[in-house]
Amino acid sequence: KSSSRKPPNPHHRYFFSCSPLLMCTFRNRRVPPDSCCCSDRALEQSGLGQLGVGLAQMLRKQYGTDNVILSDIKKPPPDVYKSGPFVYADVLDYKLLRELIVNNRITWLVHYSALLRPVGEANVALARKINITGLHNVLDLALENCLRLFVPSTIGAFGPSSPRDPAPDLCVQRPRTIYGVSKVHGELMGEYLHHKYGLDFRCLRYPGVISVNTTPGGGTTDYAVQIFHDALSTGHHECYLRPETRLPMMHISDCHRATVEFMQAPECQLTLRTYNIAAMSFTPEEVAQEIRKHLPHLKVTYNPDVVRQSIADSWPVRFDDSNARRDWGWTPAYGLEELVTDMLDSIQNKRTNQGLPVS
Ligand SMILES: NC(=O)c1ccc[n+]([C@@H]2O[C@H](COP(=O)([O-])OP(=O)(O)OC[C@H]3O[C@@H](n4cnc5c(N)ncnc54)[C@H](O)[C@@H]3O)[C@@H](O)[C@H]2O)c1
Repeated sequence: KSSSRKPPNPHHRYFFSCSPLLMCTFRNRRVPPDSCCCSDRALEQSGLGQLGVGLAQMLRKQYGTDNVILSDIKKPPPDVYKSGPFVYADVLDYKLLRELIVNNRITWLVHYSALLRPVGEANVALARKINITGLHNVLDLALENCLRLFVPSTIGAFGPSSPRDPAPDLCVQRPRTIYGVSKVHGELMGEYLHHKYGLDFRCLRYPGVISVNTTPGGGTTDYAVQIFHDALSTGHHECYLRPETRLPMMHISDCHRATVEFMQAPECQLTLRTYNIAAMSFTPEEVAQEIRKHLPHLKVTYNPDVVRQSIADSWPVRFDDSNARRDWGWTPAYGLEELVTDMLDSIQNKRTNQGLPVS
């Protein structure tokens, strides 16, 4: 691969300061893995969203608290602020990001910044800025500074003309939301810069991620979090999708582990730059049935929302993640049964600690 790459032109926008060959030698771990781990320092952008804090915890356990810097544009809650380094960083501020990367000798960049589907559709111009201009900022910085760059993608990167059961890694992708379009753009830009300049770009298409700490915000997979809260509070959930709507889902700890394992995978093992990862696929009716094994009184009614139902109908019902399993050993730990038990236990504990009743 390296022999087909042209040497970087220093006058070109994508000039970077170490050669692709040197970078490959380092990334393929011809140096001992331990010395790589010791020198890795990560900057996690937009780390105060649903996924960021948990990923930082997992990375800090392995790489040391001070080697993982969280950033966002909002004020961190006290426990997050006390748990390790935090800095303000707007993904649209190129100079500030560059300063952070240089001053902190960053080697890994986790780019979590994005306006997700509901917010993006409500403000397309801002979504274009954050999801596309922001991504270009980090791509340029990753090239300039020889960073390993992780950017998540989503089931929303597929569209009505994509194969749905299962959706393979490589297929037609014509999403009809600005969120999906910007994610496909990211997948393609990262792959292009990898092949042209050797950028160590890594991307996973996450399924709907389920966690106790998510505040449902109008997303298409949010019902799969809300149903647990409703089961333990009122005992009644009104679902905005039809009962048979099947979508790929994943427990948040599997999502974090997949991300860390993928970032650690030696580059020589990767045959793709963007992989699907899967754990389970279920329908509202199936998750309700599983919850009823613990809470038999749960009542679910269905009132499909036209927008969210049509989006769900255009997304894959299952991901084919066989390439991830083969190339870097991906295996999920949580199936539907384990997910339901864990969510009910965690929400029950949370409600009890907050002094709220549990039905
Ligand atoms: N949560 C999921 O189920 C899921 C599924 C698939 C992919 N993803 C991807 O994972 C990533 C993280 O998702 P999430 O659920 O944590 O998102 P989130 O919406 O919970 O958080 C996004 C964060 O971005 C920050 N942000 C907004 N504008 C910014 C700016 N200009 N500069 C810097 N930060 C800014 C916000 O303050 C917020 O903390 C996203 O790229 C998303 O597309 C998430």
